[in-house]
Amino acid sequence: MYGLYVPVYFFILCVKIIPKKGESVLPRRISDDMISRICDENDIIDYVSQYVQLKKSGRDYSGLCPFHNEKTPSFHVSQEKQLFHCFGCGASGNLVQFVMRTENLDFVDALKLLADRAGIVIPEDDDDFTDISHEKKKRILEMNRLAARFFYSCLKNPSIGKTGLNYFAQRRITGKTITVYGLGYAPDSRDMLINHLKSNNFKIEEIVEAGLAVQRNGKIHDKFRNRVMFPIIDVRGNVIGFGGRIMHNEKEINGFKIPKYLNSPETPVFDKGKNLFSLNLAKNSKADDLILSEGYMDVISVYQAGIKNIVATLGTAITENQAKLMMRYANEILICYDSDEAGTKAALRAIDIINDSGGRARVIRLKNAKDPDEYINKNGIEKFREAVKKAVPSTEFKISLIKNQYDIKSTDGKILFIDEVVKILAKIKDAVEVDAYITKVADDTGISREAVLSKYREVTSKKSYKRIPQKTEYQKKKERIQRKIPISQGLREAEKRLLGLISQQKKLYKIIKKDIEPENFSTVVYQQLAKDIFDSYENGVNPEPAMLLNKFSGDDLSEASEVFYNLEVYSGDEATVRELLYTIKLEKLNARIDTETDVTLLSQLFSEREKILREKTTWEE
Ligand code: GTP
Ligand code: MN
Repeated sequence: MYGLYVPVYFFILCVKIIPKKGESVLPRRISDDMISRICDENDIIDYVSQYVQLKKSGRDYSGLCPFHNEKTPSFHVSQEKQLFHCFGCGASGNLVQFVMRTENLDFVDALKLLADRAGIVIPEDDDDFTDISHEKKKRILEMNRLAARFFYSCLKNPSIGKTGLNYFAQRRITGKTITVYGLGYAPDSRDMLINHLKSNNFKIEEIVEAGLAVQRNGKIHDKFRNRVMFPIIDVRGNVIGFGGRIMHNEKEINGFKIPKYLNSPETPVFDKGKNLFSLNLAKNSKADDLILSEGYMDVISVYQAGIKNIVATLGTAITENQAKLMMRYANEILICYDSDEAGTKAALRAIDIINDSGGRARVIRLKNAKDPDEYINKNGIEKFREAVKKAVPSTEFKISLIKNQYDIKSTDGKILFIDEVVKILAKIKDAVEVDAYITKVADDTGISREAVLSKYREVTSKKSYKRIPQKTEYQKKKERIQRKIPISQGLREAEKRLLGLISQQKKLYKIIKKDIEPENFSTVVYQQLAKDIFDSYENGVNPEPAMLLNKFSGDDLSEASEVFYNLEVYSGDEATVRELLYTIKLEKLNARIDTETDVTLLSQLFSEREKILREKTTWEE
């Protein structure tokens, strides 16, 4: 008995502790051709109409903006350009960006949604994603969807699901929550689900591959039996797997150990290290942070009580992929694990994984309860909200744990405590934060600040602890430009108009291409747009505004989109383009003259200005 148990238990431990190495969940590259095709086969008017009642107005359509509250319509959609723009709040972009905002998806997921809508298959970069395996994934997702419905209807059917309903009632789960989460009940039968899926034209091998049936002793039977069921749904709404819980708390029956929770195995659509329970619901909450818990029931209880920004891992320790996934939706992750020793250790590991993935974490500490579910049932939601508000920064959490290990009233205790603390501080990148903790530790122990600081320096000089996060080229460039001379409104307007005009007509581009380069534009956004417009023409294709916007988000997106929006009022010819080019040169020169203090350089700038003014008169004649 023990001979078997130890390795099995050890295996479970390993699976729980060691984060799996895998590819990152960062967006894979989807080719521009594919993006183009997906956008071509979805119409922005069609799509936006699901959210906004649009009326034709002039060349555009308009309606009430879905992104801010308004009584008169300032939200415009252009079918011709496949763009939207709100003159009230500045929200703007192409169809993909509209989907990103309304569905809270990232770029790749928004594209996938649109691809699904148009029946387009996006091939993955990796070779394992041929059309055959895509077909397979689709069939597994379809089986999962049927299974989820099946479990749900079993739960709702009193003659089958009574025990399940009773169990949920006993755990204070309401009917509404059951519907929101699509909770279910797997009947105590060997083949009810198998038969149901077979009657929907699925083969037994497929059902096994989906993890819904298992083979044991040569016989195949339903995997989930006599359990309450928790479907696991990804951000795009696919049922990717299940967790099933026994309806009692016995650890074994007749000498057989039975797992409290049984999860779907890894399948072509289910990767436990890359998904999170309830992220599909949490992503729609407006909160800046995301609470991370360990259990399905914790999430469900907290959500039912009105806090929706909560997710859970899928029965394994958190991975970097999951940390990154969370960071797409949250600025900060609030770890809310079990309050026992195992939970505390898991929280420490989670902090490191989140920090290593570039994220920030705080820890919610719950007193007198084992987990969030128990805490809420005992103390109510308001107390839980208070605990969330009091979540401690990860460094403070680590220091407080070390503090408990040593008697910091004794000299030895102080020394050991400080030794441990400086090791933690050495990993922090923010100098102000380090400084604050050094002061705090000095105060707590009564050791001088200088002494603590020198211990800290000792550790940091020994190892290359300092890991300064790399800035992207785009960030660096942006900072460089922002540091330079302020950009006048006139210059901005002229550049905006020039870009709008040349994006419409190749002949206008030809006029200016000798005189201005992408780097000469004064904002990073304009530079990028100029580069893409120029490249497009040089490659013999006309630039497509909606496509060019894919590279931008946030304020940059509004800035870029204004270039193309309302081109009507920017209509102009070759003379306009020359005029604009002239304004740009002059505005730039004026800005330099305004800030230049060196007399020789100033006189050079003046003569340059003379030259430009002369040029203008030549082509005006
Ligand atoms: P309740 O007992 O229903 O309140 O669940 P809980 O979420 O509080 O359970 P617990 O803290 O024991 O477990 C946290 C999570 O670990 C669960 O939600 C499961 O994802 C996972 N888990 C728990 N027990 C098992 C098990 O026996 N096998 C597997 N594979 N996962 C488990
Ligand atoms: Mn629990």
